[in-house]
Amino acid sequence: MNTIRTTHSGEATNLAAFPLALTTLSGTGAAEIGDLNLSQPLEPLAVTAIRDAIMDFPFLVFRNQSMTKDQQARFSEYFGELESHIGKLSDGTTFPIVHTLTNLDAAGNLINMDVAKLNYFWHTDKSYYAIPAFVTILHALEVPPEGGDTQYANAQLAYEALSPEIKARLTGLMAVHDWQASRRNSGTSPATNEQIRERPPVSHPLVRTHPDTGKKALYLGVHVSHIAGMPQAEGKALLTQLTDHIGQDQFVYTHRWKQGDVVMWDNRCLLHRALPNYEIARHKRVLNRTVIVGAAPY
Ligand SMILES: [Fe+2]
Repeated sequence: MNTIRTTHSGEATNLAAFPLALTTLSGTGAAEIGDLNLSQPLEPLAVTAIRDAIMDFPFLVFRNQSMTKDQQARFSEYFGELESHIGKLSDGTTFPIVHTLTNLDAAGNLINMDVAKLNYFWHTDKSYYAIPAFVTILHALEVPPEGGDTQYANAQLAYEALSPEIKARLTGLMAVHDWQASRRNSGTSPATNEQIRERPPVSHPLVRTHPDTGKKALYLGVHVSHIAGMPQAEGKALLTQLTDHIGQDQFVYTHRWKQGDVVMWDNRCLLHRALPNYEIARHKRVLNRTVIVGAAPY
């Protein structure tokens, strides 16, 4: 682990203006940033420094944070427009803009985790939308004493490691992302008619270009139904091959949560999945979540 004080490629004036206390956590683009209290408004140069840092480190964690939902919304808005959620909570109400992920209800009973099973598969948030997510921000309020980890796979590094032959084969291919397929792929209950209406299938490039860095990344996951124009079996075999490739240890950072962690990651170049590696009915796991809207992949 290498602790450095650094700034990132932004305007030259930022170099002296706001040095981040940044510790590299892995060679796959994960870093920890210290010395910031996210419950307070941040000065513009600090926001710029974080925005620059996430270009080099698409996974960032800020430890020991304590934020209300409103404070989390304020911090999130520094990075773009907050995504509203069209999904419904179990009581039929709409997801609030800062919503809470939890495994236990107020009485300590295990909540129906059917949909959450989706999170155990590699995916990138909201790729079933024409305009998928840029960053996701999670604030850990309660975490199990051990386990409940989240893994992040760097899809840029995974792309770079492919042979020229495979890269050539992938050029121009479009993957169809579909909420219905996502439910099928993860073995969760079928999509409702309302969800099918709200989330029609969309096509995205299988290899997308990062709009800020220009780097190419594989863009797939559990939300993918098939490769457009390719026989189903052939497309499935290709998707399985690429997913297995991305999930190799050399591309993956495993985040072991601590209470108070605020993590943010760039969905445009990372895939992630939750690990069910804790006693899910025994330990509470509560995180507040916000998502920032991205742009159409190309
Ligand atoms: Fe996710």
